[in-house]
Amino acid sequence: MSEWWKKAVVYEIYCKSFCDSDGDGIGDLRGVMSKLPILKDLGVNCIWFAPIYTSPQVDNGYDVADYQDIEPDYGNLEIFKELLDKAHSMGIRVIMDMVLNHSSDQHRWFQESRKSKDNPYRNYYIWKAPKEDGSEPNNWGNYFKEGNGSMWEYDELTGEYYLHQYSVKMPDLNWEYEPLRKEIYKMLNWWIDFGIDGFRLDVIPRLKKTPGFPDSPNAPDPLKDKGRFVNARDMCTDVPGIHDFLQELNAEVFGKRGCFTVGEGAGINPQNALMYIAPERKELDSVYHFELCSRTRYSLPVDYYRNTQKNWAAIMEQGGWVVQHLSNHDSARQVSCYGDDGEYRTRSAKTLATLTHTMPGIPFIYQGEEIGMTNVYYDSIEDYDCCYTLGDYDTLVTNGMDPAEALRTVAPRSRDNARTPYQWTAGENAGFTTGKPWIKLNPRYTEINLEADLASEDSIFAYYRKLTDMRKENPAIVEGDLQFYLEQHPQLLVYTRTCEKQTLLVVANYSGEKVNVSLPCVLSNGNWKRILSNTEGRPAAFGRGEMAPWEVEVYTMI
Ligand code: NOJ
Repeated sequence: MSEWWKKAVVYEIYCKSFCDSDGDGIGDLRGVMSKLPILKDLGVNCIWFAPIYTSPQVDNGYDVADYQDIEPDYGNLEIFKELLDKAHSMGIRVIMDMVLNHSSDQHRWFQESRKSKDNPYRNYYIWKAPKEDGSEPNNWGNYFKEGNGSMWEYDELTGEYYLHQYSVKMPDLNWEYEPLRKEIYKMLNWWIDFGIDGFRLDVIPRLKKTPGFPDSPNAPDPLKDKGRFVNARDMCTDVPGIHDFLQELNAEVFGKRGCFTVGEGAGINPQNALMYIAPERKELDSVYHFELCSRTRYSLPVDYYRNTQKNWAAIMEQGGWVVQHLSNHDSARQVSCYGDDGEYRTRSAKTLATLTHTMPGIPFIYQGEEIGMTNVYYDSIEDYDCCYTLGDYDTLVTNGMDPAEALRTVAPRSRDNARTPYQWTAGENAGFTTGKPWIKLNPRYTEINLEADLASEDSIFAYYRKLTDMRKENPAIVEGDLQFYLEQHPQLLVYTRTCEKQTLLVVANYSGEKVNVSLPCVLSNGNWKRILSNTEGRPAAFGRGEMAPWEVEVYTMI
């Protein structure tokens, strides 16, 4: 197996909220650099940086104003090079988030593009004339629900509308225009020359839009849509022709240079995934899908989890590679959504992590997950920053919902749950900054922080270390086929991972209740050695026939 990423443990850094070295309340690259040893200690061997390019920060960096420079609040290219070299010297690879669907409206290309209809950069973006009555070219709604809700913004200077799937300040790039594509390839190759190891590709299935830009047949949702503008994601996601773009990207950059790619899989499902990741198609190395972790997912019922993993394991068996993760910067905190952030916080966080790290695919850890950081509930909408949260709240209130109820509705899945500052210590500002944090801390930092976890052998952090070690020592975790048992069980997840060299067995109580365990003979007759448990000290579940709430164990066959 030559591809390093198949054995990787990836850690996502949301720089703004990670560690502030200069007291301005905003995380930065020197802050990240100072924490590399702890990531090494955790067993991480690849970092994914959410965008750190120059940006007005409308969407915290997903609005890129210069793809070839670093956001000044974070540092500069020299500091980034220093960080990269240091990470490499520690055996940690670095992948960059690459936002190819849109740029910031402050990008030089857009500044030129909007100047006149015959500007050489005009076609770098998607411009359309108004309808006869002066209205928007179609009924597509922007995802952040900004302004009147349309995906089109009128620009007085040239009397045309431009397309923006996300913010008004994030115009979509026109991938149909070859000079734009060539410019992008140059930029991507420049980053590879700079020394980075790969890319996480933001909303990559959305580069292609439905030709002709017809109205969407979807009806407006009276609560969730603004006016006549509807959810038209399907008009801009996985549209035929997308694969031509990806194959060209691969030929010009990814494949040619041999860098790792992971596509953000908006709209990617087991039915179409292999079109993106089958190795022979020469597009992407891997994807992460939204079926277990997304901004709009509130729970993971056990049968749904099992079936989803089975579907994706089938994709892996056909040569595709997928990411295993339950949270990232776009989701709420996994322990709050799928585990128990009260009495069983520590234990349930370990169970969720065990699943992620023993399922087929590449485990991605999102910062803070390894210490069991939880959701935050701010009292006022003013404290929120996330574009979706603000847009959804505004839409609900505009459509008649009581503001307090609207806040209660948007808070549990706000992306800000994942974006509160990292909790390093129980001290001032959780050790994140000596200044005023750019976003309010989660008040639970006095109880939940890395310092506390490092002081305890039973901590979530200590357990993650065991998981990352386990991956290195047990080939079945990387290579093994997945087989579930007790498939009708409403609480237990029981599965094996088998490769030529090894069989592993995982028994997890995916619930906060005590559960009787009676394993099928094919398992109970085997000789198993327990290699991991989140209830150390208790005898193995095999002997006692019951599992404690959120208990999990991993065995290897001897
Ligand atoms: C997906 C990113 O993960 C998210 O944070 C961002 O808002 C959108 N893409 C738009 O770039």
